[in-house]
Amino acid sequence: MNDMSIMERAVSQTENKISARKVQVYYGDKHAIKDVDVDILDKTVTAFIGPSGCGKSTFLRCLNRMNDTIDICRVEGRIALDGEDIYDKRVDPVQLRAKVGMVFQKPNPFPKSIYDNVAYGPRIHGLARSRSELDDIVEKSLRGAALWNEVKDRLSEPGTGLSGGQQQRLCIARAVATQPEVLLMDEPCSALDPIATGQVEELIDKLRSEFSVVIVTHSMQQAARVSQKTAFFHLGNLVEYGDTDEIFTRPRDPRTESYISGRIG
Ligand SMILES: Nc1ncnc2c1ncn2[C@@H]1O[C@H](COP(=O)(O)OP(=O)(O)OP(=O)(O)O)[C@@H](O)[C@H]1O
Ligand SMILES: [Mg+2]
Repeated sequence: MNDMSIMERAVSQTENKISARKVQVYYGDKHAIKDVDVDILDKTVTAFIGPSGCGKSTFLRCLNRMNDTIDICRVEGRIALDGEDIYDKRVDPVQLRAKVGMVFQKPNPFPKSIYDNVAYGPRIHGLARSRSELDDIVEKSLRGAALWNEVKDRLSEPGTGLSGGQQQRLCIARAVATQPEVLLMDEPCSALDPIATGQVEELIDKLRSEFSVVIVTHSMQQAARVSQKTAFFHLGNLVEYGDTDEIFTRPRDPRTESYISGRIG
């Protein structure tokens, strides 16, 4: 390997994965996201923080067109994944959501076995050519979600029978199984106890070596622990975006300062 290829790889590690420009979101007449520009870097954890109702979930859902499923919701502006407009008519939202996966606040395993929960995505996207390939994907995804050792002897039992923290890791395994390029997580730890939260946070840090992670969190401690970049939203505006340690130690905007010091929110 020559020096150039090492440099190219170093550059590609922090390149933009998603770029959003002039994004507006409306629910009927309500303007919920106002003129948001942001770049989400590859192989980086980005935290979205801000007071309740400021638009974190709404903006997160723009990134994999989950807002398409809400009738009164309208999205304007441009959001590109690797330079390609994800709102282009030719983009199939189901394919897009395999590439830009999502984990929700409340663990929501399918009423199926642990195995079938993880195998679901690879099956519908035709990622395995044989049962043994599918077995491999399931094992690798469960290992990736730090759950394999706890479930390997009961893969045919229902996913809904696991503990809350295990169910959330199962949902992460399910998202990881389609080999996403970006993983969106909306308050993924809010239903978990501190031990399960610690496990999911460790996992997030590991996942970042493979793809980019965007996490919405109400916990500033969590944002500081897991993310390298932070975006602060307030009343539908993206007020400030930057390195997490800068945002938490030297915020530039008084609204960010008030929020992180606990005066608003
Ligand atoms: N399905 C919907 N229909 C109508 N309005 C909505 C809908 N979802 C969100 N909103 C409105 O859009 C704004 C942003 O909401 P959003 O859920 O994105 O905020 P959030 O920052 O995620 O809040 P929280 O921290 O409480 O989860 C709010 O005013 C909310 O009432
Ligand atoms: Mg929300």
